[in-house]
Amino acid sequence: ENQKIQVALDGPASAGKSTVAKLVAKKFGYIYCDTGAMYRAVTLKAIQSQIELTDESAVVAMLKQTQISFQPGDPVQHVFIDGNEITEAIRQPKITNSVSTIASLGGVRAELVNRQRDIAKQSSIVMDGRDIGTAVLPNAPVKIFLIASVSERAERRYKENMGKGIETPLEQLKKEIEIRDHKDSTRKVSPLTKASDAIEVDTTSMSVEQVVDEITKIINEKIK
Ligand code: CDP
Ligand code: CDP
Repeated sequence: ENQKIQVALDGPASAGKSTVAKLVAKKFGYIYCDTGAMYRAVTLKAIQSQIELTDESAVVAMLKQTQISFQPGDPVQHVFIDGNEITEAIRQPKITNSVSTIASLGGVRAELVNRQRDIAKQSSIVMDGRDIGTAVLPNAPVKIFLIASVSERAERRYKENMGKGIETPLEQLKKEIEIRDHKDSTRKVSPLTKASDAIEVDTTSMSVEQVVDEITKIINEKIK
């Protein structure tokens, strides 16, 4: 079979998308594309270049001159802008809390969506983000919408931060997640929303392994 399989994985912040997407991609031998990393990369470069994050034409002009690339890695995929590694830099809280502003710019989305579709042409793929099933790959045969309660997602982020030596109070993380969810769900262009044909998986009380198993079942069901 030469047919390329596309798995669109969307959902709110810290629902477990990238963790699960990577494992599922590995299991099936598909490539993995973290579209959030692309929005984060644009945010980082705009801040470094002292471009106003709401100045759409300036940000888009900068983006057109910017190469964003990935290199597979375990456990994390490496991310580069113009050949410079930014894997860790794009996870800083400052970027996390500014990225929704960049993601609300229609011109930025148009450019990144084009690049994401080009990546998806290469191979079977698991792509995670906010608008993959609704806008980037609307014909993907497998669409999954991962959710989890805000408290659970804040706990996950808290543990993840602890591992990196970052100490942000749980209550603050909860607020930040709520703010980002709100911005992502209410923006005009391609807001975060479940595609009508996506399967929702509530991961609140599930382990990573359980979520991977559930998604594996869904994919096998679709490709048999
Ligand atoms: O991993 P986390 O849930 O923190 O976020 P991410 O997937 O790295 O995405 C960061 C931000 O990029 C999101 O909060 C959205 O504002 C934006 N994003 C988007 O608008 N569309 C996508 N397909 C992916 C991310
Ligand atoms: O990509 P997204 O922001 O949706 O989530 P993530 O960056 O994959 O982060 C989720 C965090 O929650 C990771 O530290 C996972 O180990 C943990 N986790 C999970 O992803 N899924 C579960 N069912 C339970 C925990």
